[in-house]
Amino acid sequence: MADAAQFQDRMLSLGLARVSEAAAFASARLIGRGDEKAADQAAVNAMRDQLNLLDIDGTVVIGEGERDEAPMLYIGEKVGTGKGPGVDIALDPLEGTTLTAKDWPNALTVIAMAPAGTLLHAPDVYMEKLAIGPGYAPDTVTLKMSPAERIAALAKAKGCAISDITCCILERPRHEALIAEVRATGAAIRLIPDGDVAGIIHCAEPEKTGIDIYMGSGGAPEGVLAASALKCMGGQIYGQLLFRNDDERGRAAKAGITDLNRIYTRDELVTADVIFAATGVTNGSLVEGLKREPGWVTMETILMRSKTGSVRRIQYRTPAK
Ligand code: FBP
Repeated sequence: MADAAQFQDRMLSLGLARVSEAAAFASARLIGRGDEKAADQAAVNAMRDQLNLLDIDGTVVIGEGERDEAPMLYIGEKVGTGKGPGVDIALDPLEGTTLTAKDWPNALTVIAMAPAGTLLHAPDVYMEKLAIGPGYAPDTVTLKMSPAERIAALAKAKGCAISDITCCILERPRHEALIAEVRATGAAIRLIPDGDVAGIIHCAEPEKTGIDIYMGSGGAPEGVLAASALKCMGGQIYGQLLFRNDDERGRAAKAGITDLNRIYTRDELVTADVIFAATGVTNGSLVEGLKREPGWVTMETILMRSKTGSVRRIQYRTPAK
């Protein structure tokens, strides 16, 4: 494991924002064009090129897929110039490929960086996720509680009525029972079509986003990215890997995971200080989407460091290509 003291996150954070911006910029022409693959590919290429300019000895631990599935930014790929600190990289060059193709809200480019060996090498399987924002005692809500119990516990801790709680859930057939149970409590539900990284991050700023709690299953890699963001902004997340078959259990074994039933806390998903950057592609409540006007593209990036709790929002305008 790298010496955390050598992790010059202050210096590297701006570089990380540039990586995130480059991916967003590359996907700009593909917003609302109905081509998810082309949008993703453009973001992947740009993110990789920019990442390789950074003075880091980086390893992609959350990436585009296994080496035999993804030609670029695959899990285990070495990135950076090799001259700097050893770091783990978790990335999703386009979180919300369908959102981008349809020009629906909350598509983001996302990247997190932490000392080598400190981000969970989550296999590409589903993860059951539960998240709330900052200011609550540990285990105010847990994955062991039923969804209704979590809503009641959160309302009590927040000092409000259950009807004042809003829960964010991915709209999927597999979530029908969850949605019914939460509705029966009287809480509101914000159903999202995709993009649970943004959905979870929304819990960190409930007064701005209106979301108090996130529940449901989604990609495990996205869970590590969301945990990185909450480690910077405050908030709790719990994740439990879900396996549908032996192939998926094999992926976990390959990633070095032996306890298949473990429930991970935020600080077990991300065990050291982390820096996190996300740039808006389509409009969202976390960051604004890319704006194109004749000759220019403007974008907004959120850049955060867990060590200091700093949160920057960076507006970047650049000539359109
Ligand atoms: P992509 O950007 O790869 O399309 O992922 C979008 C997403 O909604 C994630 O945010 C989420 O974790 C996952 O897909 C959910 O998977 P599924 O669509 O299979 O329910």
